[in-house]
Amino acid sequence: GFGQGGGKLRFTAIAPVERTVDEVTVPAGYTWEPIIRWGDPLFRKTPDFDIENQTARAQAGQFGYNNDYLNILADKGSTRSGVLVANHEYTNEDLMFDPAWMDDDHVDEARRIAMAAHGLSVVELRRKKAGTKWEYVRGGARNRRITATTVFAVDGPAAGSDLLKTKDDPTGKKVLGTLNNCAGGTTPWGTVLSGEENFNQYFQGTATGSPEDSRYGISAGPTERGWELTDPRFSAQNAGYENEVNRFGWIIEVDPQDPSSTPVKHTALGRFKHEGANVRVAADGRVVSYSGDDERFDYVYKFISRDKYKPGNKKHNMTLLSAGDLYVAQFSGDSPASEIDGSGTLPADGAFDGTGTWLPLVVDGESKVAGMSVEEVLVYTRLAADKAGATKMDRPEDVEPHPTTGKLYIALTNNTDRGKANKKAGADEANPRAGTTSATSNRDGHVIELTETGNDATALTFGWNILLLCGDPKAPASKLYFSGYPAEKVSPIACPDNLAFDSKGNLWISTDGQPGTIGYCDALHKVTLEGPDRGRVEQFLAVPAGAETCGPVIHDRDDSVFVAVQHPGDGGTYAEPTSLFPDYVAGRNRVRRGQAYAPRPSVVQVFSSRANSGAGRSRGAR
Ligand code: FEO
Ligand code: CA
Ligand code: CA
Ligand code: CA
Repeated sequence: GFGQGGGKLRFTAIAPVERTVDEVTVPAGYTWEPIIRWGDPLFRKTPDFDIENQTARAQAGQFGYNNDYLNILADKGSTRSGVLVANHEYTNEDLMFDPAWMDDDHVDEARRIAMAAHGLSVVELRRKKAGTKWEYVRGGARNRRITATTVFAVDGPAAGSDLLKTKDDPTGKKVLGTLNNCAGGTTPWGTVLSGEENFNQYFQGTATGSPEDSRYGISAGPTERGWELTDPRFSAQNAGYENEVNRFGWIIEVDPQDPSSTPVKHTALGRFKHEGANVRVAADGRVVSYSGDDERFDYVYKFISRDKYKPGNKKHNMTLLSAGDLYVAQFSGDSPASEIDGSGTLPADGAFDGTGTWLPLVVDGESKVAGMSVEEVLVYTRLAADKAGATKMDRPEDVEPHPTTGKLYIALTNNTDRGKANKKAGADEANPRAGTTSATSNRDGHVIELTETGNDATALTFGWNILLLCGDPKAPASKLYFSGYPAEKVSPIACPDNLAFDSKGNLWISTDGQPGTIGYCDALHKVTLEGPDRGRVEQFLAVPAGAETCGPVIHDRDDSVFVAVQHPGDGGTYAEPTSLFPDYVAGRNRVRRGQAYAPRPSVVQVFSSRANSGAGRSRGAR
């Protein structure tokens, strides 16, 4: 989305919003509207959404659930047409289905609806003029749904490996579906990358288990969703499906301009709980993809392509993530370990900072990990990185290179286990908060700024510093740090998750977890990176009760901000919803066609109320 903005976004930071408030709260002078909601039909023949008469067939043609990654891609040379790409991380059956309907006669259909509500959506957009609200085009030529049953090609060194073969796919090169797609990135060649994150929860492991299953959180018991009862491939205890789980946990690539293209799973980037992936083109033309593994004490990875980027040659560029080298980050602090006491207090040199090394896992087609083949390193990447000695981080979420400076920003969302007895690690300079209780541990997360040596994306060493130690300055559980900016002047911020940049190079951070930590609705914040205000955090919006803020897209030249509002009403039930966002229809007997007495994950556009007189909703509009 970078490059379409222009520094026009002027706003006064909003106050933090109490966590029960079921509103999208935006700054004065702005208004908001949903562009597309869970259940909105993508195709002409798809039925309108009807929450009381859902079918898997209808859902497969409707916008999916729990939108996370988002981009708004204007067509080249146009301000009035484009495509929206969003993924659908997971489903919340407690909010989607009437429990009375979920009986033995309907449970299989409910599971198939949930499968169809996962994946990705590509939807065409149009509008009358720049600066106004986009509308989605039902029946748009590029509209597409990808679900848990869509055919994917597998490429890279592990494609065709015995570790990926099943009785349905003896080639090990053709997988049905994508699951738990969290964050992502748009490549310089216009495709979308998306991370398969907590895929383990969909699969029942073998009865005996294995070190690999255990490292990936795959357990022998029945899954909560019970998909293995509807489709046998979801249990490794069904003969022939032992490897099905190995076919998930990858970065996928989708071409949103070509609805007939086959999406790809890239094994060269390794298999773990990929939050997402973001690409930077190096000075020599190779491309570098960065990715975080979102688990407590897991790692940050970097892939360097073998081949070079060719501007304008999408077909060639779509092969770049198929071959190259894979590395994992090791961070070293420059202050004495005795000064890193776990409280978040700055060491004597005044900074949490140091140097680091990208440790090799696969280089020039050869494994660099003793006792593991290339295929094993790529399929069991977490175990390879353990052996390599990577630094255990506080849940790496989005990892994004800055579009002009090249510096890498790493959101570390939180880790309340660091420093606890019998857990994997205590404080280090890159993860300096560790406590024995959740209040004193790294409850609120932090953000690291990483500079590749020589600002060369292909460098194998780097420098780093902590940009923010997050929290609520009015009620800090532990020490906070905003790169020296006065803490009393920033908006409270906790649990950084997704990152974006505006046209002036400011960092934008969306949060996932503020309600359960600092007590406010999740938010979108702008962070100034350069000049005297470096470290200044200003809250732009808040999402409704129970929701997390995802996929921020900042089109400041167009006076617009887009967010994916994920899991509104989380914690409520179908009968007693705690959010009615965005339809705000109270009472089932008043439900109109295409609306719902239920929260609906939706993509929202926030735009200037000046440019859209009469349109949109002001704060609190119902
Ligand atoms: Fe799905 Fe790491 O958040
Ligand atoms: Ca230091
Ligand atoms: Ca996330
Ligand atoms: Ca998260």
